[in-house]
Amino acid sequence: MYKASDRRYVDMKYNRCGRSGLLLPMISLGLWQNFGGVNQFENSRAMLRRAFDLGITHFDLANNYGPPAGSAELTFGQVLKEDFKPWRDEMVISTKAGYDMWPGPYGSWGSNKYLTASLDQSLQRMGLDYVDIFYHHRPDPATPLEETMGALDRMVRQGKALYVGISNYRPAEAERAIGMLRSLGTPCLIHQPRYSMLDRWVEEGLLDLLETEGVGAIAFSPLGKGMLTNRYLDGIPADSRAGGPSVFLRPEDLTDALLEKIRRLHDIAGVRGQSLAQMALAWVLHEPRITSVLIGASRVSQIEDCVAALVNLAFDEAELAEIESILA
Ligand SMILES: NC(=O)c1ccc[n+]([C@@H]2O[C@H](COP(=O)([O-])OP(=O)(O)OC[C@H]3O[C@@H](n4cnc5c(N)ncnc54)[C@H](OP(=O)(O)O)[C@@H]3O)[C@@H](O)[C@H]2O)c1
Repeated sequence: MYKASDRRYVDMKYNRCGRSGLLLPMISLGLWQNFGGVNQFENSRAMLRRAFDLGITHFDLANNYGPPAGSAELTFGQVLKEDFKPWRDEMVISTKAGYDMWPGPYGSWGSNKYLTASLDQSLQRMGLDYVDIFYHHRPDPATPLEETMGALDRMVRQGKALYVGISNYRPAEAERAIGMLRSLGTPCLIHQPRYSMLDRWVEEGLLDLLETEGVGAIAFSPLGKGMLTNRYLDGIPADSRAGGPSVFLRPEDLTDALLEKIRRLHDIAGVRGQSLAQMALAWVLHEPRITSVLIGASRVSQIEDCVAALVNLAFDEAELAEIESILA
């Protein structure tokens, strides 16, 4: 029997999400990898329990997370039913639709038909009456934005989602989506872009837009899918993302030039008394417009290490300049 730790709110810090009433933990946990049907259920359960015990109240899913697609939501649903039920109101659970989910013309992108059916399926898999946040997972160049945003607005009106967000939208399309949602009376809560020391596109306009609009920002893959950690300092472990079957990180992504940068960043982290993962998270959180970093993990110890990043989020000018020179 699981009982949540009485200390779960002692060390975690919470940020307001844009100009909304919702607070999110500075560190959130995503179930994209390592929580699927192919993974060991007891390890997934242990990570979810430990995360919640450390004050991680936000769990991020999507219809297609697994593999197989849908199975991360089934895993989460099982843990919710068996362990987390008494604490559901202490959690912010998100899901998304936008990528390929089922065959045929109605199982991908951004039509009302796809998004509405997908959320119903997600609720069923997780055993929930509503999700806290529903995202459109990626922009759809072929569907009128009015249709996609209209679908998000109706989800809130139907009580199937409390808030809505967008993911992977570039500044111009994000601005249109945010404006449309506002005029429908369902403000956009949050944007979920990729952001890390290795991928800084959000600095070119998106963060300015979100600040002006009062929309929160949750950075996904803040550890560069594991590259900004100690994982690959001495080769590619067989039990790592790059060492496994995942198509999302390949051994060839870890070039010699990149590894050289990673080693130099690792040295700076060491001087700060942090792991490289901790410094990479602190660096993203040091940007005041970032509400939360959305990490992934393959084992409990990684979640513990990441949460301990909060002990030191400050950088002095010399450290920032040195990091810039390495990243340049
Ligand atoms: N909206 C979108 O389009 C989108 C796209 C991608 C992801 N996301 C969201 O973002 C979440 C996180 O993505 P991500 O998994 O790529 O994030 P990430 O945090 O950049 O990478 C996670 C990986 O880093 C390694 N790691 C984590 N903590 C570590 C530590 N303390 N020490 C050493 N290694 C550590 C683990 O690699 P190993 O597995 O190798 O151990 C872990 O699987 C996803 O679950 C999902 O919710 C959203």
